[in-house]
Amino acid sequence: NMMKKDLPSREVLFDFHGVPMIHSFSANWEKIQNFQARPDDILIATYPKAGTTWVSYILDLLYFGKTSPERQTSIPLYERVPFLEITISSTDSAERLTTSPRLIKTHLPVQLVPKSFWEQNCKMIYVARNAKDNMVSYFHMDRMTLFHPDPGDWSSYFKRFLEGNSMLLFGSWYDHVNSWWKKKQTHDKIHYMFYEDMIEVKLIYHILFLEKLCCFLGLSSSLEERKQITGGVQFDNMKKNNMVNYSTLQVMDFKVSQFMRKGKVGDWKNHFTVAQNEEFDENYKQKMKNSTLQFRYEV
Ligand code: A3P
Repeated sequence: NMMKKDLPSREVLFDFHGVPMIHSFSANWEKIQNFQARPDDILIATYPKAGTTWVSYILDLLYFGKTSPERQTSIPLYERVPFLEITISSTDSAERLTTSPRLIKTHLPVQLVPKSFWEQNCKMIYVARNAKDNMVSYFHMDRMTLFHPDPGDWSSYFKRFLEGNSMLLFGSWYDHVNSWWKKKQTHDKIHYMFYEDMIEVKLIYHILFLEKLCCFLGLSSSLEERKQITGGVQFDNMKKNNMVNYSTLQVMDFKVSQFMRKGKVGDWKNHFTVAQNEEFDENYKQKMKNSTLQFRYEV
């Protein structure tokens, strides 16, 4: 673990195979590219801040909640579901993962996913979140994650997000959600989900959402189990849970912002000015004119 005195400094973006990247996430590219997937590996892919941690926790509970409860209380989620770009590539932690399946998370755009995942026909779960809330959440994440590029102030961040090309770590939200969506149309091992569907407050919807997920994974779970998982993964419970709320990581400054920050649909309304909202909507229409993706901005 990084000591406080060795706090990292902010990194600089550079172009990496057409995607804005930082050194920390690409330093071990050789290893990432040559990653040997196993057929039962499950890849959780997202644009940053779309609900990666949430769905990682759900999957971990679905697979291991019953069989190894001690896993839930002793191993932080970021070790249970390691991050391809850093944890796996720098520590060989995937090799040490003895569980089956191995749950692995990534923020890579679809074209950079290591080829072994395709060759092994691994299941993949993609989570997308509406661009407005995603932008707000990413802004706060960049503020509090000490090695991320400096986000600057809100209005400059907003501009860079809208420009889409090469301005934010892992690239354009628009390219990310659309290229995964496009891939999904021809590849039946991708389950494409929406943050806004996960947050449905009505229990019945949440249970249905879990049912669909289980169906894709080929898992059977009782209604009782699904109810229990639904409770465990509620925002307030996750926020309190030190094994999933990232409070054990030193590279984030929780005085700046929390990892489990708001957990809402519609917090963008507290950040966007009226003018920004108009500019966004206009720009969005252009950028998404060829896309069949539909997002909700409130639930
Ligand atoms: P906010 O910053 O809007 O609060 P990721 O895990 O991809 O980094 O995404 C983090 C975002 O998901 C944060 O959004 C976080 O609060 C939200 N989140 C995590 N767990 C959640 C839950 N159980 N319910 C609702 N939102 C959740």
